[in-house]
Amino acid sequence: MEDRTHSRLTRDGIRIYEAADFDGMHKAGKLAAQILDDVTALVQPGATTGAIDAWITETVENSGATSATIGYKGYKHASCISVNHVVCHGIPGDKVLKEGDILNIDVTVIVDGWFGDSSRMYVAGRPNRKAERLIQTTHDALMLGIEAVKPGNTFGDIGAAIQSYVEAQRMSVVRDFCGHGLGRVFHAPPNVLHYGRPGTGARLEEGMFFTIEPMVNLGRPETKILADDWTAVTRDKSLSAQFEHSVGVTSDGCDIFTLSPAGKFHPTWG
Ligand code: MF3
Ligand code: CO
Ligand code: CO
Repeated sequence: MEDRTHSRLTRDGIRIYEAADFDGMHKAGKLAAQILDDVTALVQPGATTGAIDAWITETVENSGATSATIGYKGYKHASCISVNHVVCHGIPGDKVLKEGDILNIDVTVIVDGWFGDSSRMYVAGRPNRKAERLIQTTHDALMLGIEAVKPGNTFGDIGAAIQSYVEAQRMSVVRDFCGHGLGRVFHAPPNVLHYGRPGTGARLEEGMFFTIEPMVNLGRPETKILADDWTAVTRDKSLSAQFEHSVGVTSDGCDIFTLSPAGKFHPTWG
């Protein structure tokens, strides 16, 4: 009954999916990526985060897909939009974007029961030099983490790749939030930490599906949650950035399910 895909669990409770399941994840991931490509045009000084989210809600519906976040633990929106010192889980609303604001837009869709979860950075207008460096470092840290994804490596190898790179740039990795297994569910084991030591943690196996979604701060790593019980901000008010891909471990590396169809994952400006 439960095991329709014949997938199994490892000792650590991590699901191992079948080869055919990659197709479902590619479809869901592609829709998330397409939405993140197309939303770029809406990110302009003067736009509200609520208007951007309304467009995402409509686009998910028009695609015949379902938003994974609407109704998730009482969350009411199809995206999280995290501006400047907001680390993650920013709630879309009346906030008006101004020139130079940097923001993460995070979208999770369900297509045929499969979850596609991805987020990227955007800029309203042009970023300042520090913001630009933060965005570049966070993007590159995610891609270095992804390079560590192959059978035989461990989750600690992913975290270590991200942490060592970020700290060498004199920025910090947020500890309070992590990536996660996903597939036919939104959040499943393991917790994918964005810091750690090489060789530690569970071993990666072909057929594991999970996100990597490092949050990087210009200042200190500590966060706090605002009174709305969702919005996470940097305690020291420093700028924060995040990129997220959903990936699946293959025989010799990984598939990125949420690749941008237009090659727009990394933002450009000017
Ligand atoms: N998409 C987020 C993640 O990367 C989770 C958002 S949950 C929400 O895991 F309820 F805040 F939308
Ligand atoms: Co995620
Ligand atoms: Co996400």
